[in-house]
Amino acid sequence: MRTGKNRKAIPTNSLIANVFSHKRNLKIPNIKIPSGLKLNQRMKMGGLKFLKKLKPNTIPVAFFDPQYRGILDKLNYGNEGKQRGVKRGALKQMTESTIGKFITLIEKALIPSGHLFLWIDKFHLCSGFHEWFKSTQLDIVDMITWDKGKIGMGYRSRRRSEYMIVLQKQPRKAKGVWKIHNIPDVWLEKIIKKNHTHQKPIELQANLLSAVSNEGDIVIDPASGSFSVLEACKLRGRNFLGCDING
Ligand SMILES: C[S@@+](CC[C@H](N)C(=O)[O-])C[C@H]1O[C@@H](n2cnc3c(N)ncnc32)[C@H](O)[C@@H]1O
Repeated sequence: MRTGKNRKAIPTNSLIANVFSHKRNLKIPNIKIPSGLKLNQRMKMGGLKFLKKLKPNTIPVAFFDPQYRGILDKLNYGNEGKQRGVKRGALKQMTESTIGKFITLIEKALIPSGHLFLWIDKFHLCSGFHEWFKSTQLDIVDMITWDKGKIGMGYRSRRRSEYMIVLQKQPRKAKGVWKIHNIPDVWLEKIIKKNHTHQKPIELQANLLSAVSNEGDIVIDPASGSFSVLEACKLRGRNFLGCDING
């Protein structure tokens, strides 16, 4: 209830209908899992092939964490394939046009008002990434900074964070769609046991699942790496559908 001069008290029952509601009113279609795909497993498959199997307007939530070629070229640490760069250099990289194709197919698969959580690095955040989704119905609705609690590389400042862009397929709305309202937009989470060079925070992803899906909903990730999204789905009772080219 609001207090203070000139402020009208909001009746408690009106909270059900406002933007801070904990209810989610989106209708999720019942889908048949396409042949060749398996729920809640680490599938080894190309992400574009995987996405092409999905029916349009069926998936409420997607995560995408591209394997950027751009950052390697731009920052040119000179250690690609050497020392600390061995694991990173060995991963299959995605061109800007491939990333655009992934995002276009993800957008097709999402239900109206469905969400895409897109992991992004400082280079793309500053230099722009709108080309990837300019011909889609996706709008940027939020951004979360992940504080890794640990210092990384950088010639000038040393990197300690990564960024997640929150995109929503039209129609863009929070009311009746986003149902958890205590997630801070700077999130501190240390990776305790590292299984992949680009592993993302499981607790943050699990909280985001609580915000934009219900138990049993299907969550996709077409480039899963360590399958951190699968782990987040297990924590929250969601069904995972995803793959990585390296399995
Ligand atoms: C940045 S990592 C993802 C890390 C993941 N989010 C995690 O938490 O562990 C990107 C992954 O994309 C994979 N990849 C690259 N090209 C791919 C493709 N065409 N299809 C599927 N996966 C691909 C790489 O093998 C790599 O594991």
